[in-house]
Amino acid sequence: MTTDRSGQSDGIDTSVPTAAGMYDYYLGGRDNFAADRRAANKVLAAAPEVILMARENRAFIQRAVRFLAREAGIRQFLDIGSGLPTQGNVHEIAQAEAPDARVVYVDNDPKVLARSRLLTTEAKTTSVITADLRDPDAILDHPETRALIDFDQPMAILLVAVLHFIDDETDPYAIVARLRDAMAPGSYLVVNHATADPRPDNAGGAKEVYRNTRYPATHRSREQIERFFDGVHLLDPGLVFVPAWRPDTETDITPEEVWILGGVGRKPTVD
Ligand SMILES: C[S@@+](CC[C@H](N)C(=O)[O-])C[C@H]1O[C@@H](n2cnc3c(N)ncnc32)[C@H](O)[C@@H]1O
Repeated sequence: MTTDRSGQSDGIDTSVPTAAGMYDYYLGGRDNFAADRRAANKVLAAAPEVILMARENRAFIQRAVRFLAREAGIRQFLDIGSGLPTQGNVHEIAQAEAPDARVVYVDNDPKVLARSRLLTTEAKTTSVITADLRDPDAILDHPETRALIDFDQPMAILLVAVLHFIDDETDPYAIVARLRDAMAPGSYLVVNHATADPRPDNAGGAKEVYRNTRYPATHRSREQIERFFDGVHLLDPGLVFVPAWRPDTETDITPEEVWILGGVGRKPTVD
């Protein structure tokens, strides 16, 4: 990859920090640029636990996807705000359980598509598209989505660590409702979201840094996050700090140290 003086790298502007690049840095990845690292280090100065949060967030996705593929029998996944490829990607977890599982990754950062080409298999069970959560119909109607996802069959939509990049003016509840309505009965909605509730000072410092990125962050309260599950039935253990969502092993992490609330909901089969 080459970067010129204007900060353009292979047609991608690298001078403005992005959520995808900063998150990659927290996870110890190498798909980040100097602007991402500078901003990420400022977040870490305000909230050092963000590295633990990023790791716990990934572990939550992996447990949720494993549950969906193994116990719930889900074979199609739409992962919106999927981020740069990392270890234990959704298609790897799902296809380890069910080789025929299909995954469409969606992100509005073009770097994600550029970096994810290798994920698209010859068998065409995995696709990556550039689209914006703020336009759910563009995601639902995208030819690559339609090629892999059968909306008449149960599926899972993942909105993991992305809804806090949608501000109130954009009406994230209407967006989630549109996505939920597109899913067949018996489908699942996986949502997690940053909340400032347990650590208002740290969260406030981190939010301040994100203000200068392409998409500022909005922290929401438990009640506001719970509303994203309207119309689906929240599975046990409900909406919890993510380390407490069906942990595989005992951990000494205090769940609220990871100020991300998450849960999995199932769309009822009868209204
Ligand atoms: C913190 S990362 C989370 C990645 C992954 N979901 C995870 O939890 O590991 C947030 C991702 O959401 C993407 N994103 C932010 N706003 C978005 C939007 N409006 N539409 C689609 N993707 C968005 C960012 O580019 C970034 O890759």
